Amino acid sequence: MEVLLVPKYLFIRILEACNAGCFMCDFRHSKDEYRLSKEEYYKILTRSFEEGIRFVRFTGGEPLKHELIIDFVSIATSMGIKSSIISNGYYLTEYAEQLKEAGLSQIIVSIDGATALSHNRFRQTPDLFERAIEGLKKCKELKIRTRVNTVAGPHNYEELIRIQELLTNIGVDQWELSALKLNRPLKYSEDVRQRIISDIDYLYNVGPAQGLLKPMGKVWCGQTEEERTRYFEKGIPPTPDNVCNYVYYVRYYDAKNGYLFPCSMLPHRIDRHETNVYMKPANFTTISEEMQEKVEFFSKNGCNICQGCSASAAGFVGSGEDWEC
Ligand SMILES: C[S@@+](CC[C@H](N)C(=O)[O-])C[C@H]1O[C@@H](n2cnc3c(N)ncnc32)[C@H](O)[C@@H]1O
Repeated sequence: MEVLLVPKYLFIRILEACNAGCFMCDFRHSKDEYRLSKEEYYKILTRSFEEGIRFVRFTGGEPLKHELIIDFVSIATSMGIKSSIISNGYYLTEYAEQLKEAGLSQIIVSIDGATALSHNRFRQTPDLFERAIEGLKKCKELKIRTRVNTVAGPHNYEELIRIQELLTNIGVDQWELSALKLNRPLKYSEDVRQRIISDIDYLYNVGPAQGLLKPMGKVWCGQTEEERTRYFEKGIPPTPDNVCNYVYYVRYYDAKNGYLFPCSMLPHRIDRHETNVYMKPANFTTISEEMQEKVEFFSKNGCNICQGCSASAAGFVGSGEDWEC
């Protein structure tokens, strides 16, 4: 057994319910009634802090639909744990001031289209784009760090440069541009593939050299020729190079089902995973021997199991020290 590495980041899926109908998401329009309770959250967070976790990220479902979200942020702040929320942004303007007061460090808003017309169609939710953009601006004003997550694919590749301009104009701090994952392989014609590849240079080099926001991590459809072929021919997004060290720093807790993963990318696909990549902790802990074995297994074999991760997780090479919440 190698030295036990202490994870720093904990993702918690605090509910599955969601107001949005995003075409690609397992939780679209979910009316699920599960909500993580305050007692359970407190237990999880206290234990996590003792074990070295210093950042918590709330996900769902839509975290802003959880009636205790402000309390969850306050509790994290009072323990010295920084917090962030990943949200579709629908309720953001309404909660932004309370979130700031509770000490929220970062808001991550999902934006997949450059206009209300396209974004609201991809996400099957009227007014979502307008409300998400307003919420992002409000968070900027309040000095909450802002990040946008864009899931790129055949539906929106033509809009990515316009999204980059939009986010730059708003002054968004970070942009994670990641590949759409579906249960079936994605299909791209040769023409589309060429168009995407020619836009990459603008998105990652030319645009940023002119002051536009640079996407984080690896190029969304693959950094190398080999990765791009894999993506365009098999639909597999980029992975870390050789071994995955992301798993040493991150835990993802699916609170409803009690599953703990050594990665934030896997959990939406639990039905297609072998049990050796997650565990059901009897007493919540992020660093048990059982988890350590999974981390080591996953670090070596994960890239063949996970079918690709988000561009920033794929590009993660640091020690975790430089991660900002
Ligand atoms: C499941 S959502 C939960 C948080 C929140 N409701 C939101 O919309 O951001 C978390 C992230 O997963 C992304 N996501 C959902 N389905 C996906 C898929 N099939 N492929 C890639 N990303 C996906 C969403 O776009 C979002 O950025």
